[in-house]
Amino acid sequence: MEGKRGAAGKIILFGEHSVVYGKPAIAVPVASVRANARVKKGKGFITSVQTKERIPISSEHPFALAARNALKRVEAVGFVDVELDSEIPVASGMGSGAACSVAIIRAIAAHNKVKLSDKDVSDIAYESEKLFHGTPSGIDNTAVSFEMPVWFIKGQEPETLKIKKPFKIVIGYTGIKGKTKELVAAVRERKEKDEAKYNRLFDEMGEIATSARKAIERGNIDVLGPLMDRNHELLRAISVSSPELEKLVAAARNAGAKGAKLVGAGGGGNMIALTDEPKKVKKALLVAGAKRVYVTTVGG
Ligand code: MEV
Repeated sequence: MEGKRGAAGKIILFGEHSVVYGKPAIAVPVASVRANARVKKGKGFITSVQTKERIPISSEHPFALAARNALKRVEAVGFVDVELDSEIPVASGMGSGAACSVAIIRAIAAHNKVKLSDKDVSDIAYESEKLFHGTPSGIDNTAVSFEMPVWFIKGQEPETLKIKKPFKIVIGYTGIKGKTKELVAAVRERKEKDEAKYNRLFDEMGEIATSARKAIERGNIDVLGPLMDRNHELLRAISVSSPELEKLVAAARNAGAKGAKLVGAGGGGNMIALTDEPKKVKKALLVAGAKRVYVTTVGG
């Protein structure tokens, strides 16, 4: 059976957090890190190759829910075992949870010789995202399922973005797990105390995403650097940065990156930098304490 296998990681170029409040965001796949799953007849367990965790498919775990919903969707009979093999760092802003769910759903569909559309896969994965993150916008499961650069507005059909001119992004991992659920909830609490301020900040994040879309579609890549810098300032203003993220963002800029920002929920996890000199920026990030560095090309 043809169709996508496994799932790539993703990063949000613009619009994390504001996307939860209906503003647009741009996410792109990171093809160099993937989650894969293998399914065979078995006793009803998901086993992680990396952590050796053994999750009963009957349990409340988000991956178990993804498996159960996929089995129901394809009208499977009998028990299966799933082996999950993911190289995407967990809780890092690279969509690890969504990618693992998508890999499980695709492997179950393939095992049962049922072809699911990317939209079907994304919808099933969204149910697990709710267990992971509370009130997710849906951008992670969408970006990961479609595995294309996407323009995403909560509750609307995602649009795939055409990248006129490819560009390089360096991703630096702080080594600290970012707790998406807690961070999103904390932002909501702060917003409820100061609606006017947060609405203003989210409006500007939405405007930045809109400008970035135009720049990406026209191939004006240099414009993206200052937009990233400004988006990072706004994310700092909603208090989701951390000293480790600040250190890596500063190191990337000092090494000549055109722009840099934290990525995903924040509080740790990853930052990204736009650069024509990925080797130089990668080296600077490692010197500044990045635990892992990835380089990805967007488009092309
Ligand atoms: C998490 O990858 C991105 C956030 O905007 C949360 C969400 O969109 O659900 C922080």
